[in-house]
Amino acid sequence: MKNNISNQFILDPDVTFLNHGSFGACPKSVFNDYQYWQKKLEYQPVLFSTEIVYEQLRQSRIALGDFVGCDEQDLIFFQNPTTAVSNIIFSLDLKPGDEILMSNHEYGALVRAWLKWGRRHQVKIVQQDVKLPVTTREHFIDNFWAGVTPHTKVIFLSQITSATALEFPVKSICELAKEKGILTIIDGAHVPGHLDLNINKLDCDFYTGACHKWLCAPKGTSFLYVKKEHQSWVRPLVYSWGKDGDDPESSEFLQDFQWQGTRDMAAFLTLPKAIKFYQEYIDGEKLNCKKMILKTGIELAQLFNTPSIYQSADWIHQMVSHPLPKNAPIDIKKRLWEEYRIEIPVFQWCDQPYIRVSCNIYNNTQQMEYLLNVLRSLI
Ligand SMILES: Cc1ncc(COP(=O)(O)O)c(C=O)c1O
Repeated sequence: MKNNISNQFILDPDVTFLNHGSFGACPKSVFNDYQYWQKKLEYQPVLFSTEIVYEQLRQSRIALGDFVGCDEQDLIFFQNPTTAVSNIIFSLDLKPGDEILMSNHEYGALVRAWLKWGRRHQVKIVQQDVKLPVTTREHFIDNFWAGVTPHTKVIFLSQITSATALEFPVKSICELAKEKGILTIIDGAHVPGHLDLNINKLDCDFYTGACHKWLCAPKGTSFLYVKKEHQSWVRPLVYSWGKDGDDPESSEFLQDFQWQGTRDMAAFLTLPKAIKFYQEYIDGEKLNCKKMILKTGIELAQLFNTPSIYQSADWIHQMVSHPLPKNAPIDIKKRLWEEYRIEIPVFQWCDQPYIRVSCNIYNNTQQMEYLLNVLRSLI
């Protein structure tokens, strides 16, 4: 790890922060850029909102398009993946009896969005059971694909899951889905800055990613990719000025989505700086982070005598979820925070308590050891 890299982040130095996965953490230099754009807006609110913002949004789309491997014209910014995916869900024109296939590891808020919408439209939401431990990719694909029926119209799948922190083989699923004419919506909330991403090569229909997690942009920096052939039928949840407004882009898709009424778009404009920070400091250290995570996973298994949820190291990257013993004290998260100032998620998933450890460049082996020692004393 580069010396003193943690000083470059705003994080409270008195906290052992092992929860990058939930909301990320922003470096000071990127946060300064965020405030720079906010001040620029307040300095000349009209000029900024009618001209400057569009040119800067374009610069951010270009930087992001290069980074995630797609045409910048296919990207729109949202504050979060839930909003991004909701725009697709509510654009779908499906019949009663049609089916959406997802895994049972999907993010709870989005499962809820699908279920609410599915009930109203009598579309069946199928949550295919992906059993743990995950073994081989081939086994995953066969097991997941068994959920496809002649009624399956859409596959919604995380590339890295939230609760279980596993990388699912979404490329193979997208290839199979394309052959069958099934739409693919990939939830990559955890992916930008975590895995190398090339959306064009993935060849999905829709992709969402959060840049405030592993790319360390300020909170509220997320995007939606929409393949060109779908841009004519996807509708924004909020219609505003569209082509009658100030957006100089020629595509109706961008014009419809970019201006959604007055809002603070400063976070989106930091992307060129956030990507530069990532390339300069984070990219080269990711393997070290993964090694720390793999070691911590092994040590958690030894400490708790509970089995890992993956059979080989290629399922996980900078996060690991590990099952706690069933008798783990229910107030363990509270105690980790209140008595030891360790910020880490401990939660129930499929009737089993889990702890999820994240590692980014500001973390170190002493923090992992501290966590393990504290857990040893608590359980
Ligand atoms: C896999 C996954 N999808 C989607 C989201 C949605 O994030 P938000 O609640 O910010 O929309 C998250 C958030 O952690 C996530 O982990």
